[in-house]
Amino acid sequence: MANLQTNYMGLTLKNPIIASSSPLTSNLDSLKRLEDAGAGAVVIKSIFQEQVDKEADMTMEMNEAFLTHADAYGFLKGASEDHLIDAYLTLIEDAKKSLDIPVIASLNGSGKGDWIKEYAPRFKVVGADAIEINHYEIGSSRKIDSRTIEKRYINFAKIARKEIDLPLSLKIGSNFSSPSWMMHYFDDLKIDSLVLFNKFYNPDIDIEKMSIKPGIPMSSPSEYYNTLRWIGLMSEELNCDLCANTGIYDSSTIIKMLLAGASSVELCSVLMKDGVDVINKFTSEISEWMDKKGFNAIDDFKGQLAQERMSDPTKWERTQYVKSLHIKGN
Ligand SMILES: Cc1cc2nc3c(=O)[nH]c(=O)nc-3n(C[C@H](O)[C@H](O)[C@H](O)COP(=O)(O)O)c2cc1C
Repeated sequence: MANLQTNYMGLTLKNPIIASSSPLTSNLDSLKRLEDAGAGAVVIKSIFQEQVDKEADMTMEMNEAFLTHADAYGFLKGASEDHLIDAYLTLIEDAKKSLDIPVIASLNGSGKGDWIKEYAPRFKVVGADAIEINHYEIGSSRKIDSRTIEKRYINFAKIARKEIDLPLSLKIGSNFSSPSWMMHYFDDLKIDSLVLFNKFYNPDIDIEKMSIKPGIPMSSPSEYYNTLRWIGLMSEELNCDLCANTGIYDSSTIIKMLLAGASSVELCSVLMKDGVDVINKFTSEISEWMDKKGFNAIDDFKGQLAQERMSDPTKWERTQYVKSLHIKGN
């Protein structure tokens, strides 16, 4: 029977399937179910910088009487922020006590990263095995050019690396002019892993109410191609590990990501749609495939189809359909 054990940013995972940050990883019962279903690791539901700020603002509104006192203002704001952070730290601590698999904390936010300095060290104290950071800039202001946004990302990653004394992963989007340049920069900063790619929340429009509503948060299976391409392009170039994310719905896609060079995969939508027990099914199917192909360990085939190891590396770079279109009548 094939051994599915893998190394992901210095952590030993019994298999490469990680439960991605989502409502499924937001409470202890659900985390235990994920472990029982065979997950190799879990990323706890993110704590959002905005969430912490909002909680603090709400507490301030409820305590208007105190607002005239500068000391009280500082105290109340700090106390309400602490309330959320404390609940998050308790979840990590409980998860560490109850689970045998690695527990990855997740921070989500924008800005300069001062909040990381404040909160990340506390994750280490409660036993988090690693930290995943989901940082984003939407680039919607005509006053801010792309270089400035990239510099902000880089400065943010520098702060995160400096402040976080644990394995650190960055969950990023692919909307950079040169994703390769950015990934190399993160790699040079000694980020331990890049999660490719985050699926951002998207707004939609309700045409009856003629108002903005949230878009469907779940991915669809066809969304994995962009991730696959970039794992294939980058896996042999970077020292850091790559974790594949978005649109992974079956064991074949997991195998494809590993062949392209991913060290692990993060799953969310498929677990929400089909139930967490699919993880055991996927690990059995991967194992069967490995047995059929004569592979004993993940490292026997990981990265075998990465760009740098191919005789025709252009296959990963082609963006036009030229040959694949078969137009009827031609
Ligand atoms: C309902 C929902 C909540 C999510 N919450 C978070 C979150 O708190 N932090 C985060 O980094 N990603 C979050 N995600 C994104 C997922 O972790 C994952 O990156 C994304 O859904 C793509 O993976 P998938 O195609 O397997 O769903 C959420 C996704 C969904 C559907």
